[in-house]
Amino acid sequence: MPPETLFPAKEVRLPDGRGDFSWSRDGDTHKQAVAPVRRCAALSGLANLRAKASIVFRCLPGAGSWGRNTMRFTGFAIALVAAVGLAGQVLAGAERITFPQNYKSDFVYFMTSDRPDNNTVRDLYANLTALESAKDGAPLDHGSLFAMEVYAAVLDDAGEPVYNEEGRMQKGNLKVVAVMEKQPGWGESYPEDIRNGDWEFGFFTGDGTLKADVDTRPCMECHLPFADDDYIIYLEELVAKANE
Ligand code: HEC
Repeated sequence: MPPETLFPAKEVRLPDGRGDFSWSRDGDTHKQAVAPVRRCAALSGLANLRAKASIVFRCLPGAGSWGRNTMRFTGFAIALVAAVGLAGQVLAGAERITFPQNYKSDFVYFMTSDRPDNNTVRDLYANLTALESAKDGAPLDHGSLFAMEVYAAVLDDAGEPVYNEEGRMQKGNLKVVAVMEKQPGWGESYPEDIRNGDWEFGFFTGDGTLKADVDTRPCMECHLPFADDDYIIYLEELVAKANE
């Protein structure tokens, strides 16, 4: 069992009367079925997500205003799922990404994110362009590339994640490699309400094959509130790494 302090239950209330939403995962295709509500502004709270996170997948109507600075949580965090207006629609674009075959040797590993909400462990890598330009924060230079390995967590007989002495989850099989690449003009084909600067998103298998059936709109919806961090959720950690 994880230390109790890591998992305080949190209920998230959102302004604007947004409704409940749910998120289901379809094996390793990472498809999300999301109730038809608009983007969930409180997603910006994800900026404060830390490895030891408590994740809540409810987005309730309620009062209060959410801003990045009002959502400081230490030791735990809230993750919310972007609501997808056009779930199922596949956007063209991911095929523009060149899978960085040698990311393990050529990129810089900068952190691991444990995700007890969906029993995955993620290793985050950034290329040198991203690392160099992160020295003075956002925005990152064009040519920046991120590869995030998503592993199934090792589970015990009860289906709960196995934690080591440090309270960290353990990696099982690699499920997918999530890639973000930023190139000049790439964002131009997207409507402003989902455009993530010039970033393109794609899911790949471990050997670099694009999962062409994965809709990348949810990627953009979920990363969109992080515009101030050039759409990178763990930019702060990369900046720290770049300035080591
Ligand atoms: C439900 C919200 C959500 C969706 C949808 C989503 N992401 Fe993310 N993404 C995150 C979070 C949270 C992180 C921080 C690492 C972690 O714990 O997963 C992240 C991190 C990343 C990173 C590492 C760089 C960073 O921002 O820290 C990449 C690359 C990435 N996502 C790619 C994708 C791709 C590609 C898709 C769609 C196929 C996608 N994401 C969809 C929430 C999301």
